[in-house]
Amino acid sequence: MDFACLWLALLLPLVAALDFRYHHQEGMEEFLKSVAQNYSSITHLHSIGKSVEGRNLWVLVVGRFPKEHRVGIPEFKYVANMHGDETVGRELLLHLIDYLVTRHGKDLEITNLINSTRIHIMPSMNPDGFEAVWKPDCYYSNGRENYNQYDLNRNFPDAFEYNNVSRQPETQAVMKWLKSETFVLSANLHGGALVASYPFDNGAPVNQMVLVCLSNVATGTSHSRSLTPDDDVFQHLAHTYASRNPNMTKPDQCKNKMNFHNGVTNGYSWYPLQGGMQDYNYVWAQCFEITLELSCCKYPREEKLPYFWNDNKVSLIEYIKQVHLGIKGQVFDQNRNPLPNVIVEVQDRKHICPFKTNKYGEYYLLLLPGSYEINVTVPGHEPHLTKVVIPEKSQHFSALKKDFVLPFQGQLGSLPIPNPSCPMIPLYKMSPSHSATTKPSLFLFLLTLLHIFFK
Ligand SMILES: *[C@@H]1O[C@H](CO)[C@@H](O)[C@H](O)[C@H]1NC(C)=O
Ligand SMILES: *[C@@H]1O[C@H](CO)[C@@H](O)[C@H](O)[C@H]1NC(C)=O
Ligand SMILES: *[C@@H]1O[C@H](CO)[C@@H](O)[C@H](O)[C@H]1NC(C)=O
Ligand SMILES: *[C@@H]1O[C@H](CO)[C@@H](O)[C@H](O)[C@H]1NC(C)=O
Ligand SMILES: *[C@@H]1O[C@H](CO)[C@@H](O)[C@H](O)[C@H]1NC(C)=O
Ligand SMILES: [Zn+2]
Repeated sequence: MDFACLWLALLLPLVAALDFRYHHQEGMEEFLKSVAQNYSSITHLHSIGKSVEGRNLWVLVVGRFPKEHRVGIPEFKYVANMHGDETVGRELLLHLIDYLVTRHGKDLEITNLINSTRIHIMPSMNPDGFEAVWKPDCYYSNGRENYNQYDLNRNFPDAFEYNNVSRQPETQAVMKWLKSETFVLSANLHGGALVASYPFDNGAPVNQMVLVCLSNVATGTSHSRSLTPDDDVFQHLAHTYASRNPNMTKPDQCKNKMNFHNGVTNGYSWYPLQGGMQDYNYVWAQCFEITLELSCCKYPREEKLPYFWNDNKVSLIEYIKQVHLGIKGQVFDQNRNPLPNVIVEVQDRKHICPFKTNKYGEYYLLLLPGSYEINVTVPGHEPHLTKVVIPEKSQHFSALKKDFVLPFQGQLGSLPIPNPSCPMIPLYKMSPSHSATTKPSLFLFLLTLLHIFFK
C-alpha cells in the first residue's frame, strides 16, 4: 500500500459512508432514495421535472419541516452539474447531503442549520449531459449541453438582451421551481476554473453605453464590470465561499493566467454571457445566486474527489449560513392579515423587478450590518419608510426580525392588487447607471475560438 492509498484508507471511514466515486443517474437515485428513507423526518425527495431523455431532476430537501415552507424559515438551494461534463459539484452535493443528515443531532452547528433553514439540493440539473460524456476531459466534453445541444446556462430569459432561444425542459423545470418557492440564497456549481463569480453575468448592450465606454475602449481594458445594487452583499457572499477554500484564494491555480483577486470575480468582468441562471435568479426570482467554479479540471479522476470534498466542505456549510444575513419578517394589515405582493426594498437598492412579499406576506432582504431605510409599498399607495439598523454582531441562525403593520383594514383583500409588471423582455433601459460598460471582447473571442467555456 503506497502512501496515497494509506492516506485515503484513513480518510474514508472518517468522512462519510458515501463512497468517493462518480454516481451515475441510477446510483445517485439509489443514494437519494436511501437517504430520504433513513432520514425521513428531516428530508424530502422530489423531482421537479424531467430532462429531454426523461431522467428525473431530483431535489433533496433537508430541514426541520422538509415538505413545506414555514413562515420565518428561509429557503436555500444548491444546483450542480448544469453543464453535464462539470462533475465535481455533483459529487460534492451528494457528500454534502450525507454530511448534513449524518451530523444532524450530533453536531450543534449542523443541527442549528437544519433547524433554521430549508436547504434544497439538486445534484444534477443536466443528467442527460452527464451520461453523454463518453470520454472524460478536463477542458471540454460533449456532455456540456443538454440532449438537444443547448447550453442550459445560456437558456434563461435575460434582463439585458432578448434571449430568443428555445427554452429547454430542464430550464422550464427550474423556472417553475423558482416560482413555487421563495428562494433567498443559492449557488450554482460549475468546473473548469477556481473562482466564485457574482452577478451580473450580462450587462447593457455596448451601443446603449457608447459614451460611458469610450475610455475603456481606448485603453483596451477588459476590467469593466456589471454590478447589482446589492454588490456589497454579493462580494461578501463570494468571499465567504472563496476565503474558506484553500486553493481558490491562491493566484493562478489553474495555470492559465486567469488572475482572480482573492478567488472572486464579477461574472461580466470575467466574460459576459447571455441567458445565465445566476442573473435570472436575481432579477426574476428575488434569489441571490453566485456561480462557483470548483475545479481546474472539469471532469477529474475519481481518486481526486476526497480532496475536493476536503477543500469545499467548510465553504459549502458557511455559505448556507449566509441565508440568515440581513432582515426578514411579514407585512400585515390592521387586522393582522398577511399582505402578499407588497414591495419591500431598501432605499437605493431598487431591483429591476421589485422584490415583493410572498403569499404569507413575508419578505427576506440579505444585507450586511449597517443602517438602512426600508421602503414598504403597496402598489398604487403611499410608501412607508422605516429606518432599521442591522447589528454588527451576527444573529444566531436568524436574520433580524421585523414585521410591518400597514394602515389598511381588509380593503386590500377585496381589491385586486395592481401587480407591478416584470415583463420577460430586456430591461436594460431601466438598469442602474453603474451597471455595465464595454464587453471584454478579445478574451471572449479567444474563448470562442478555443471552445473553452466554464460558467
Ligand atoms: C440506510 O439504512 C440502511 C439500513 O440500515 C443502510 O444499509 C444504508 O446504508 C442507509 N443508507 C444511507 C444513505 O444512509
Ligand atoms: C429550533 O428552532 C426553534 C426556533 O426556530 C427553537 O425554538 C428550537 O429550540 C430549535 N431546536 C433546536 C433543536 O435547536
Ligand atoms: C425571436 O425569434 C422568432 C423566431 O425565430 C422571431 O420571429 C422573432 O422576431 C425573434 N424576436 C426577437 C426579438 O428577436
Ligand atoms: C490544492 O492545491 C494543492 C497544492 O497545489 C494540491 O495538492 C491539491 O490537490 C489541490 N486540491 C485539489 C482539490 O485539487
Ligand atoms: C418606494 O418604493 C416604491 C415602489 O418601488 C417607489 O415607487 C417609491 O418611489 C419609493 N419611495 C421612495 C421615497 O423612494
Ligand atoms: Zn459550467
